[in-house]
Amino acid sequence: MKRRYLSHYHWRRAQSIDELAWMARRRLPAFAWEYVHGGAEDEITLQDNRRAFAAWGFQPRTLVDVETRHSRTTLLGATAEMPLAIAPTGYNGMLWKDGDIALARAAASRGVPFTLSTVSCNSLEAIAEAVPEARLWFQLYVLDDEAVRNDMLARAHAAGAEALLVTTDTVVLGRREWDARSYLNPRRLALPQLFDAALHPQWAYRALWPAGLPTLGNLMKYLPKEQQSAASAAGYINQRMTRRLTWEALEDIRARWPGKLLIKGIMNAADAREAKRIGADGVVVTNHGGRQLDGAPATLDALPEVVDAVGDAMHVLLDSGIRRGGDIAKAVALGAEGVLCGRATLYGLALGGEAGATQALDLLRDQLHNLLAQLGRPTLDQLTPECLRRSPYAPGADDTPRRPSALAPNGEHLGDVP
Ligand SMILES: Cc1cc2nc3c(=O)[nH]c(=O)nc-3n(C[C@H](O)[C@H](O)[C@H](O)COP(=O)(O)O)c2cc1C
Repeated sequence: MKRRYLSHYHWRRAQSIDELAWMARRRLPAFAWEYVHGGAEDEITLQDNRRAFAAWGFQPRTLVDVETRHSRTTLLGATAEMPLAIAPTGYNGMLWKDGDIALARAAASRGVPFTLSTVSCNSLEAIAEAVPEARLWFQLYVLDDEAVRNDMLARAHAAGAEALLVTTDTVVLGRREWDARSYLNPRRLALPQLFDAALHPQWAYRALWPAGLPTLGNLMKYLPKEQQSAASAAGYINQRMTRRLTWEALEDIRARWPGKLLIKGIMNAADAREAKRIGADGVVVTNHGGRQLDGAPATLDALPEVVDAVGDAMHVLLDSGIRRGGDIAKAVALGAEGVLCGRATLYGLALGGEAGATQALDLLRDQLHNLLAQLGRPTLDQLTPECLRRSPYAPGADDTPRRPSALAPNGEHLGDVP
């Protein structure tokens, strides 16, 4: 569908996550948009994530009573209204003031868990206080200081986090070329960015007013005084990320963390078995939304071997590329207990804070419910590989790698967002 003529519509009338993305792109200054939307290097994996979903179609059954249908399920042993949790994403406050709190509220209102990132703008304590009803998960980036790591674990536990997701695919940051040029690079946060911000007054009002760019509230107590601004904190944390994250470190974390432990960054059977061996409760099959290793497999393609290896003994979640309710159904049909969504709710957040993120969740849920009915499988437990078929017409997608340097610096690279 051509969406160009919808430009004057309010985001509340958006019918898909792509439409929210398209609107968010106009709302945000380029550096914020590129941070959220972009991927690493040629963005092949970013695109492959979507292609992998498109390569599966559905195999509907007919004459099935679908009067009562729902997407209720259990995620990590507790009820969720759909098989989805909000993924950990850093710097949410750059999109909307107190963006982490807004996302946590949206998730709580729709009965799904919310994952707070280590590099969040609102702290663990702020979330626990503002959204006590949230099902809170906490994502850990392991820094090179063990005392800091242990303190974060203690804080997460005290804040009531039921699960810890240790991210393992980011020991070095992927080369996100858009970001390298514009995003909070202390040397480049200069006039062009300020000018861009001024051209996006709605965003500036919602995100900057009155205090300016938010910093990493969750890590404030560990940041040296001179590194506490938004721009410096990012660089500092990147430097302090341990490059020596190994299975031994994970064993140590396992011994210290009393709640559920998930390893976020598992892409094959061998690593999944290791995760099981060290006593993790689950894994997240992810390529970080195409933001880390460009050329890594699409997660939907990696899922079956992980499910085969550990699916009967561990929670297996998947993320990267969830944009429709049907994507959730495909992941569940191929054996995932549920999915995490990152950008889908961020686009909503950028447009309308809590209400926008809620809108994104509602779109995904409504699409999923509609799909379950059309598929003739009114509940999730009926989703199996037999509900799917390989589509012979899967869009080959645009095979041309997007080379930002060859394109205008105003965001015109966004071939996948109409
Ligand atoms: C803007 C942004 C920031 C992210 N920050 C983090 C983070 O702080 N920690 C983390 O483990 N993953 C982070 N991720 C990865 C997400 O947790 C998730 O794996 C990814 O977004 C899933 O892909 P999707 O955006 O296509 O749903 C981030 C992703 C995005 C888009």
